[in-house]
Formats: sequence, structure tokens, C-alpha cells
Amino acid sequence: MAGLNCGVTVALLGVLLLGVERLPRGAEAFEIALPQGSGITVHIKLGTSTVPAKPCYIVISKRHVTMLSIKSGERPVFTFSCQNPENHFVIEIQKNIDCMLGPCPYGEVQLQPSTSVLPTLNRTFIWDVTAHKSIGLELQFSVPRLRQIGPGESCPDGVTHAISGRMDATVVRIGTFCSNGTVSRIKMQEGVKMALHLPWFHPRNISGFSIANRSSIKRLCIIESVFEGEGSATLMSANYPEGFPEDELMTWQFVVPAHLRASVSFLNFNVSNCERKEERVEYYIPGSTTNPEVFKLGDKQPGNMAGNFNLSLQGCDQDAQSPGILRLQFQVLVQHPQNESNKIYVVDLSNEPAMSVTIEPRPVKQGRKFVPGCFVCLESRTCGTNLTLTPGSKHKISFLCNDMTRLWMNVEKTISCRDHWYCHRKSYPLQVPGDILQLPVQLHDFSWKLLVPKDRLSLMLVPAQKLQQHTHERPCNTSFSYLVASAVPSQDLYFGFFCPGGSIEQIQVKQNISVTLRTFAPNFQQEASRQGLTVSFIPYFKEEGVFTVTPDTKSKVYLRTPNWDRGLPSLTSVSWNISVPRDQVACLTFSKERTGMVCQTGRAFMIIQDQRTRAEEIFSLEEEVLPKPSFHHHSFWVNISNCSPASGKQLDLLFWVTLNPRTVDLTVVVIAVVGGGALLVFALGLIICFVKKKKKKTNKGPAVGIYNGNINTQMPRQPKKFQKGRKENDSHVYAVIDDTMVYGHLLQDSGGSFLQPEVDTYRPFQGAMGDCPPSPPPTCSRAPTVKLTTDEPPSCLTPESESEPYTFSHPSNGDISNRNTDIPLLNTQEPVEPAE
Ligand SMILES: *[C@@H]1O[C@H](CO)[C@@H](O)[C@H](O)[C@H]1NC(C)=O
Ligand SMILES: *[C@@H]1O[C@H](CO)[C@@H](O)[C@H](O)[C@H]1NC(C)=O
Ligand SMILES: *[C@@H]1O[C@H](CO)[C@@H](O)[C@H](O)[C@H]1NC(C)=O
Ligand SMILES: *[C@@H]1O[C@H](CO)[C@@H](O)[C@H](O)[C@H]1NC(C)=O
Ligand SMILES: *[C@@H]1O[C@H](CO)[C@@H](O)[C@H](O)[C@H]1NC(C)=O
Ligand SMILES: *[C@@H]1O[C@H](CO)[C@@H](O)[C@H](O)[C@H]1NC(C)=O
Ligand SMILES: *[C@@H]1O[C@H](CO)[C@@H](O)[C@H](O)[C@H]1NC(C)=O
Ligand SMILES: *[C@@H]1O[C@H](CO)[C@@H](O)[C@H](O)[C@H]1NC(C)=O
Ligand SMILES: *[C@@H]1O[C@H](CO)[C@@H](O)[C@H](O)[C@H]1NC(C)=O
Ligand SMILES: *[C@@H]1O[C@H](CO)[C@@H](O)[C@H](O)[C@H]1NC(C)=O
Ligand SMILES: *[C@@H]1O[C@H](CO)[C@@H](O)[C@H](O)[C@H]1NC(C)=O
Ligand SMILES: *[C@@H]1O[C@H](CO)[C@@H](O)[C@H](O)[C@H]1NC(C)=O
Repeated sequence: MAGLNCGVTVALLGVLLLGVERLPRGAEAFEIALPQGSGITVHIKLGTSTVPAKPCYIVISKRHVTMLSIKSGERPVFTFSCQNPENHFVIEIQKNIDCMLGPCPYGEVQLQPSTSVLPTLNRTFIWDVTAHKSIGLELQFSVPRLRQIGPGESCPDGVTHAISGRMDATVVRIGTFCSNGTVSRIKMQEGVKMALHLPWFHPRNISGFSIANRSSIKRLCIIESVFEGEGSATLMSANYPEGFPEDELMTWQFVVPAHLRASVSFLNFNVSNCERKEERVEYYIPGSTTNPEVFKLGDKQPGNMAGNFNLSLQGCDQDAQSPGILRLQFQVLVQHPQNESNKIYVVDLSNEPAMSVTIEPRPVKQGRKFVPGCFVCLESRTCGTNLTLTPGSKHKISFLCNDMTRLWMNVEKTISCRDHWYCHRKSYPLQVPGDILQLPVQLHDFSWKLLVPKDRLSLMLVPAQKLQQHTHERPCNTSFSYLVASAVPSQDLYFGFFCPGGSIEQIQVKQNISVTLRTFAPNFQQEASRQGLTVSFIPYFKEEGVFTVTPDTKSKVYLRTPNWDRGLPSLTSVSWNISVPRDQVACLTFSKERTGMVCQTGRAFMIIQDQRTRAEEIFSLEEEVLPKPSFHHHSFWVNISNCSPASGKQLDLLFWVTLNPRTVDLTVVVIAVVGGGALLVFALGLIICFVKKKKKKTNKGPAVGIYNGNINTQMPRQPKKFQKGRKENDSHVYAVIDDTMVYGHLLQDSGGSFLQPEVDTYRPFQGAMGDCPPSPPPTCSRAPTVKLTTDEPPSCLTPESESEPYTFSHPSNGDISNRNTDIPLLNTQEPVEPAE
């Protein structure tokens, strides 16, 4: 003191006289008096984070220093050489309290020396309490309580509490906490070190906690969290993110108002390599008869807990060579019981050996604000964000969720046939069971996997209500649709979305498929009565799919090829059986003029066949324009068969069918007028045809469904009315669409007969037909290639009303030799043989 500058002395004296220990700014002199035996030491040192432009010093006894330590009993006076020492220096005030030497100063902890005498620097008050191993020390925090923060996080107001304990000589970090949380008490044994960091600008002048002695807690520590209302707390195991001390026990207690419910979820954890004992968590849950309830860290943790509960983390004896680490970060969420939470739903899967139900969060982006938990609970206890109900047993589930629309449900059921003898012709309903419908969760997908033995059986789906295919032109507007897709792993094929309220009466598919009922609106429950499909196992066929369509009068039925956006898969064929009622006429219209596709291998075809007359038109989908709108008086087939298309040149066709009443059915009249002769010829022709056809079919085995021969299609020709043609052509014409031709490459097991298909009927246009008046192409007709099944009336009978455009033309009378022969008609052995 002797060397003290005179001016400073005067100022200091004045301050002391006024009872104010801190000198007014400008004088910048401080005196810190630490009473003898207080156990306090103060360090003023350079902080870490600043890069000062000008150096700053502590000026004490005219010496410029960068560090000052003040011990108990000392009373130095010092100034700073700069105006803003808080940018340079920090102050650390450590108080050691040894409860083994004397009585412990329990009770409220003071900031000592008071913040008002300290220079405005960042302050860290450290209390280091040592006690006997058997003494429990409890830190009690007043409101606002503490909130634990993870590594890398910081507190908004800069005030942090770093708490650590002691185990023998080792320091164990309990955690770092901000103000404003739920942690009300921390109990430790043997010793506790609390570091309260206050930034220089923070006005806090109290420690905010007290210390009490407790009996031994027999573990590393106990952390108590008090919830006064809804909220959440994130907590971590000691030393997090480093490993929890070996073979230790740590407990968290939670005080939860009785009217609220708590749920625990583990955010992060790791387990170590245990040599002895098992790492686990144990809960004491009020009302549980099985306390303590023991869980592995990987288990779903309990939820929907009413009342106070506690949770303990128990370590193990670790493998010395490779200990691993045990660590845990978890969240406790306290919220009002949701109105669903008291309801128990029973989902009985005991008779469903192949059905699994998953309830999970709907994938949505969530903001950063507090989001209440949304849990599904099994037996009201084990709650998780998702839940899978396993087949074969009965489940009791409840929900703890503020908003049930945050969840959805997916169900998968497998119906498989192993023994085709047994399943043949058997049917099963595909219906969402009541147990699923009753749940307060939106059903997203209910998927039936329908599996049949390869090449033995096919499947037929018959909907309770006729289906509509979802198209851009006529989108489904129901709350659900069926997605029918192949379930053959190697096959990337879906048939489309179908919803009730259309004209599709039946969908037959070749092999394993999945039928997925997907809901699009929450009102599915109300519309659930419209669902329902029946699947039957039917004899195997080779088309990929056959759709049976019975349009309703005046409705426009839109249909499109499977795999719409990716194109019909290579070498597949699909058929539509389109019914035309007796008194109606159907108009078939294609959405575009050309397919725009390019075949790499094989040829792509469409065959339109009148089911009654069996008259056919074949279109090469690659080269020709698609048919103009055409009228059909009888049920007909639209059969499409794909080649192996060049990439990017896929086959996708959209067409629609409309029905209109037939204006006048002149057929009967005209036939009557023309007289019995023509009729007789016609009938004869029919008989001959059928006989021939039958013979051929038996020779060649089953008709199989990939039309894919290298058929050379003819030029468009003068169209003629269908049902007409020349009787002398019958057998030849029929052969054009001989099974061998179109299905040839699939007939691997056929005999040699198909190797000589009756190819003689593909004839190029030979000019105007002698027997048929050239007629202008009707608006609704185009017939590039023709094949007639039946012997036709010899001349141009006009059985239909003149107003009716004709659909099919008959073949020319040119002879076989006119066939275009430069392209092989068929490659029977190699389905994927290049076309040329
Ligand atoms: C004082 O604390 C604040 C906030 O905690 C920090 O930004 C600043 O860098 C500290 N100052 C020094 C000198 O360490
Ligand atoms: C403390 O919590 C309250 C309410 O949650 C909030 O308004 C306030 O900003 C918080 N203060 C700090 C320092 O985190
Ligand atoms: C803390 O500051 C408040 C005013 O800001 C004052 O009323 C209170 O007495 C101070 N407490 C202590 C222990 O200095
Ligand atoms: C707290 O300490 C006092 C004196 O050291 C002792 O008498 C008392 O029993 C202790 N209380 C507990 C709960 O250990
Ligand atoms: C902790 O567990 C996570 C997965 O839960 C794993 O990715 C990570 O590697 C583990 N860390 C250690 C240190 O074992
Ligand atoms: C946990 O709770 C149970 C029941 O309330 C109680 O008996 C037990 O002492 C508690 N354990 C701890 C460590 O808090
Ligand atoms: C649940 O509560 C919401 C509003 O809080 C209400 O709209 C809904 O109907 C309730 N559900 C049940 C099952 O009571
Ligand atoms: C569902 O829970 C399991 C573990 O319980 C987890 O692996 C899976 O990712 C969860 N799924 C979702 C969608 O949360
Ligand atoms: C269909 O599924 C059954 C059963 O899994 C399997 O045996 C069969 O080979 C599958 N069919 C095809 C074409 O993959
Ligand atoms: C759905 O579309 C049909 C016609 O396609 C119409 O009759 C029906 O009213 C529509 N329903 C809704 C809910 O829009
Ligand atoms: C075509 O559809 C009609 C009407 O639904 C049906 O009677 C007929 O059996 C079907 N033909 C084939 C081969 O499936
Ligand atoms: C069209 O396909 C159906 C069903 O696969 C079949 O019965 C019919 O014979 C085919 N028609 C022609 C001309 O290939």
C-alpha cells in the first residue's frame, strides 16, 4: 500500500468512506478483500476468446501484469490499463469447502465476494465441496430451474452451470446446464464442484442454489426434474458424450403433475462391451406391478406414464481390452393425456398368420418449435414413435398423441398358394378387416401380396364395385384406390391405380402381384363399404393381364396400358375384353395417332377382334398410325403385345370406349331381305371356320399370350364392313392370326406343326375388291390388316345401317404368293430375336 499513488488513495478513501467498494469508472481501481479462512481464491487472467487490438494490463503496485491471484486474507487494490478490461480479462472465484475438516456451510450459497465489488469481467464462481464418501450432497436450484445442454450447445443468456462430481480421485462431469429448465435438485456423494459462469454484462447477483446434506445416495448421482406443466427435458448420462463411468448407477427422478402424462424416448445411446452384468435402464413407474421395469437401451421406452417416476441407468463391468462406451441422451416429454390415450384398441391378428400392421409417423417436415410427442403404446406402457404388430397374436394398443393425423398405418398381408391342386378355383376376399378400420389412425396402404406357384396358376380380381382406371383424363376421386403391381421381384410392372365407380369388372393377372389399397383422404372410413375385391386362383395364362370391361351406357371408359409412365414392359401382352350390349354400339378411340415407339427386338402389335365374328384387325404399333375412332357392334378384344422397345421409345397407349344406342339395327332386316341364300352361306362359313379353328388350336396347344411374331403387316386397304368377306378365304385368313404366329415364340413345348404356320394369308393389298364397292374410308374405321375368322357372305351385303361406319375390312382376294416375304414371319424359337 505504501507505493500507492496519492490520487488513487484519495479516491479509494472516498469510496470507502461512502461505503461503496467499487470505485467510479474512470478511477478504475478495485479492492478485493478476501477474509482469512474463507477458503476463497480469486484469479484474474486473460480470457480466451478475445483478440484485443491494444494490450491491456492489470496495474497493481505500479506493476503491469496479465494475471492476478488473490488468496484468503489478502486485500489488493488494482486498476486496469484500459477502458474495457472485460474484453481482455476474466475472473474466477473459487471457494473450497471441506466438510471433512469442519461443519459444512449448508443452506443458501452466496456469491462471495459480492458481484458489486468485482470488476465487470466475465465471472466464474466455483464451489468445490468435499465430503465424506457416505455423505450425500444435494444442490437445490430455485426457479427458474436448470436445463441441461449437450456438447456444443450454449445458453441464450450466457449463464451456465457446469456441475461435476468426484469418484475417488476422478472427476465426473454431471453436465452443463442453463437457467430455465426442469432440473431442481442434483444429489451427489463424496464431493461436488459447481462452476457458475456469469458473463460480465449479466446483472445476476445471486448464486440461485443451496446445498444440503443428505444420507448416502449409493450411486453416482440423482437428478430431479420437476414439471409444472407440459414440456420436455433432454438429459444425458454423466460425462456425455464421453463414456459413463464403469459399473456406475445414475438416477433421474421426475415429478409430473398428476393430470399430465410422461413419455421417455432415447435420442442417442451407445452400449459398452460388458464382461459382467448387463447395461440397462430401470424404471419405477407408479401403478406398475412389475417395478422396477427393466429395459435394454435399444428397447422402446415407456410412455403415457401418469405420476412421478424415476429412471436409472446401470452400467456394467466392461471388457478391459475393448471397453466401448456407455452413453445416453434421452428426452422426457410431458403433455396432457390425449383423448385417445385412455382408449385401448384390440387388434387381433391371432388368425392372421401373414398379416403385419405398422403404425408410424407420417413423413412430414417438422419445424423447430416444440412438438408434442406422438406415440403408439403397446399394452399402454411400451410406447414408441412407431409400432409393428406381429402376425399371429392379439395386441392391445393405445395412443398418446396430440394429433392422430401425424400417424398413419401400413398393413401387409400375404396370401399365397403353395399347392395349385388345392387352390385352384379357390377365392379369398381382399377386405380391410374391422380391427384395422376401427383404429383412429389413417390407413395409408393395405397391401395384399398374392403369390401363386410359377406357371401353374394365375389370379383373377373381381371387385365388389366395378373399377375405374385412374387416368389423367378421368382421375379417381374416391378416397382410395387399388394399386395393382407385379410382385415378381425382377419385374418392374404396375397395372395402374383403380378405384370403384367404373367399368372394369375383372382384372386377371398372370402371376404374383400385390394389390395395394391406398387411401388418399381421411374419409376412407366412410367410404370403406365401397372397398372389397375377391381374388381367385385360376388356370395359368400367359398374358400379363386381361381386363374385362363392361362399359355403362353413355359413360366414357378410359383405359391405358400398364406401366403408363415407364411404358409397357418388353415382350408383354395385355388384353381388354370389352363388352358391348346388344342394343348398343361402342366407339373405340385412341388418344394419339402414332405410338412413337421403336422396337429394338421383335414387333409390337395390337389386335382388335370382334368376339362374335372373330374378325380381326392387326396393327403394327411401330409403323402404322393407330386406328381412327371405330364402331363396334359386338363385344371385342383389344389385345396389345409389346416388342422389346428401344429405350426412350416406350409403348404407352390410352384409349377410350363410349357406348351409344344403336340407331336402327338393320342387320336382321337386310339379312331377311337378302334371303336365305346368303344366310346359309354365312352359316356354312361359320361352321367351317369353327371346325378349322378348333383343329388348329388342338394342334398347337393352348393359346398363349405374347403376340410377338415378325408379322409383316399390310398396307392399309379399302375397308369393308366386318362380317363380310369371301368364303374361299376363310381358312387362310384365319391362319393369319394363327396362334403360332402371334404367340409362337412362347410355344416352346409345341410340336413341329407350328413351325409351319399357315402364313399364306398375309396378303398385300391387291387393289379394289371385286366384290365390294369401294367405299370411302369411314370416319370411324381403319383397317390396315385384316383377318377374318368366318366365312363371309359372298357379296357386299350391307347388314348394318348405312350410317354405321364399318370397323373391319376383309382381306383382299389376292393369293398367297402376294404375301410380303422378305421379312420372316415368325421366329418361333427365339422370343427376343431381333426383328430383321
Ligand atoms: C465473456 O463471456 C462472453 C459470453 O459468455 C464471451 O462472448 C466473451 O468472449 C467472454 N470474454 C472473455 C474475455 O473471455
Ligand atoms: C425461459 O423460458 C421462457 C419460457 O419458456 C422464455 O420465454 C425465456 O426466454 C427463457 N429464458 C431463457 C434465458 O432461456
Ligand atoms: C441483487 O440485486 C438486486 C437489484 O438488482 C438487489 O435488490 C439485491 O439486494 C442484490 N442482492 C445481493 C445479494 O446483492
Ligand atoms: C447433515 O449434517 C448435520 C451436521 O453435519 C448432521 O447432523 C445431519 O444428520 C446431516 N443430515 C443428513 C441428512 O445427513
Ligand atoms: C454409437 O452408436 C451409434 C449408433 O447408435 C454408432 O453409429 C456409433 O458408432 C457408436 N459410437 C461409438 C463410439 O461406439
Ligand atoms: C424411485 O421411485 C421409487 C418409487 O417411487 C422409490 O421407491 C425409489 O426410492 C426411487 N428411487 C430413486 C433413486 O429415486
Ligand atoms: C379428441 O379431441 C379432439 C379435439 O381436441 C376432438 O376433435 C376429437 O373428436 C377427440 N377424439 C375423441 C376420440 O374423443
Ligand atoms: C421404427 O422403429 C424402429 C425401431 O424401433 C426403427 O428402426 C425405425 O427406423 C422406425 N421407423 C420409423 C419410420 O420411425
Ligand atoms: C410367386 O411367388 C411364389 C411364392 O413365393 C414363388 O414360388 C413363385 O416362383 C413366384 N412366381 C414368380 C413368377 O416369381
Ligand atoms: C367423382 O366423380 C364422379 C364422376 O366421375 C362423380 O359422379 C362423383 O360425384 C364424384 N365424387 C366426388 C366426391 O367428387
Ligand atoms: C369377356 O367379357 C364378357 C363379359 O364380361 C364375359 O362374358 C366373357 O366371358 C369374357 N370373355 C373372356 C374370354 O374372358
Ligand atoms: C385376345 O386376347 C384374349 C385374351 O387373352 C384371347 O382370348 C383372344 O384370343 C385374343 N385375340 C386374338 C385375336 O389374339
